[in-house]
Parts: sequence; structure tokens; C-alpha cells
Amino acid sequence: MNSLVKNENHDVLVSLCDAGVVSGLRWLVRDVSFDVRRGEIVTIIGPNGSGKSTTAKMALGIVKPNSGTVHRKKNLKIGYVPQKLSIDSTLPLPVHRLMTLTSQLDKSSMITALRLTGMFTLLNSDVKSLSGGELQRVLIARAIALKPDFLMLDEPARGLDLTGALSLYQLVTKIRNELNCAVLIISHDLHLVMSATDQVICLNGHVCCQGPPTAVVENEEYQKLFGTYRPDLLSVYEHEHDHVHLSDGRVKHKDGSITPHFRDFSLSDRKINKEASEFC
Ligand SMILES: Nc1ncnc2c1ncn2[C@@H]1O[C@H](COP(=O)(O)OP(=O)(O)OP(=O)(O)O)[C@@H](O)[C@H]1O
Ligand SMILES: [Mg+2]
Repeated sequence: MNSLVKNENHDVLVSLCDAGVVSGLRWLVRDVSFDVRRGEIVTIIGPNGSGKSTTAKMALGIVKPNSGTVHRKKNLKIGYVPQKLSIDSTLPLPVHRLMTLTSQLDKSSMITALRLTGMFTLLNSDVKSLSGGELQRVLIARAIALKPDFLMLDEPARGLDLTGALSLYQLVTKIRNELNCAVLIISHDLHLVMSATDQVICLNGHVCCQGPPTAVVENEEYQKLFGTYRPDLLSVYEHEHDHVHLSDGRVKHKDGSITPHFRDFSLSDRKINKEASEFC
């Protein structure tokens, strides 16, 4: 009887079974098996060249497996932030234009996604002027604007400092909670994503170990590749903030007062919204 009850935890969106890719005479990655379910955050870790991006592309259907199988749920809506993205640096490209380059997006969905990632105030900024962390958040906004079931993020925290990376992983959890989507994320920093991850796949040309993060960090294969997990090394970075950064860029202080945080400090919400309605 239980099998007839629809349980979202058993809603497998993507499933790889002994999947592998060959190029020439070489296996780029082989024998990869894992499921990604709705509401789950799955992290792939592994050294450079270990087949993480290739595995992600198999999961998305961009690369076909030469062995094994990859199944995706029918009509699965996918959001993808690739590891590499080439943006033409000769032409100005405002954020709102980047958001709509490859998909038809209504204004309200765009604004919702930019607000969720905290990037709404950068709507008219030139993409070239964004910091690394801002660009990643804008790319994530672009990937989630159509409310995907399955979000694939290939090294979203690369180039970010520790605080930036932690805050980005917090954003990933927030997105998962808001959209109830599955997230497959590639990261080199398991210690940073640990608390947000349900399942870890440790790759090195094949799956070295997999399971819940607490089990993976204790695994001998993992420790051979990445060393021993030292949560105490992170504790020095813990500090208390006496203010909160709101999603529109303003800062709310402990006493409840709010500082605007926009290029024109006199700019009101009304004016920001007017700009938003005029951008295209
Ligand atoms: N299109 C391709 N054709 C041939 N070989 C490829 C192709 N793409 C990747 N490879 C090779 O496959 C192996 C795995 O590459 P992949 O990009 O999946 O690694 P990765 O784990 O994502 O590495 P990184 O951490 O550096 O991003 C590498 O040896 C790479 O040179
Ligand atoms: Mg890669």
C-alpha cells in the first residue's frame, strides 16, 4: 500500500546507472551511478580532470553516455550554470539583457529571480562590471528564473573568498527551499557545502565513494584525495553580524533602521521599481 502513496522524497528526477563517457581510447569517467530526487542537494567533488563536468553534462543530456544509462524525468525543467561561459567583452550587456538572451522571460519572473539572489539592484549594470560573486548570482538568477525542477551548478563558488562561497551555498539552500527543486552542484570545498548537502559523490574518473557528507569525510578514499576534515579550521571565520543585507541591497540594522544601498542614496523603492519597469 505504501508504494501507492506519492512521496516527494521518492521523486527521482535524474538517475545515472553505470554511466560512462569515452573519448578516443580513454574513459573520461566511468561506472557512475546515483539518483537525484526532488528537494535534494547533491554535491559532486573530485580533483581537476576527475570527470565532474562530464558527469554533469551526462546528467543534463548534453553528453551521451557510451556505457550505462541516464534517465531524466519526462518534461524535466532544467536550469544550468556551466563552469565556463564566454561573454562577448566588446559590447555592453546589461544584466536584464543577459537574463533574457536565451529564453523568453516575463518581467515579473526576472525580477523575482534577481530578488531571490539579491541582485535586483544590478538590473541595469553592465555584466562586465560585476564582481565574480555578483556574476555568479546573476547567472544563478538566470538559471532559476523559469523555476526549474533540476538546477545544475558547475563550480558556482570558484574564485570567491570564503565568506562569498559560504553565502553562495546558503543561497543554494534558499533556492532549493523556495523552488522545491533538486540541485546538483559541483564543488571543490566539501567542508563548505557539507551542512547544505544531502548526498556527496566523490569522483576520480569513477565513483570513489558516495553517501551522506558525514560518512564521506570519514571514508578512506575521500581522505586519500582531500585529507582529513577539520571543521575547527573554519571556526576562526565565524563572526556575528549586527545587520542584515536585504534582497534589494538595503541594510537593516539591529535597531530596525534601514540604510539605502543604491548608487543614489535618495532613491526610493518607487524609483527602483520605476527603473525596473523601464529597462526594456
Ligand atoms: N570534449 C572532450 N573531449 C575530450 N576529452 C575531454 C572533453 N571534455 C573533457 N575531457 C577530458 O575529460 C577529463 C575530465 O574532464 P572534466 O571537465 O569532466 O573534469 P572536471 O572534474 O570537471 O575538472 P575541473 O575540476 O578541472 O573542472 C579531462 O581529462 C578532460 O581533459
Ligand atoms: Mg569541471
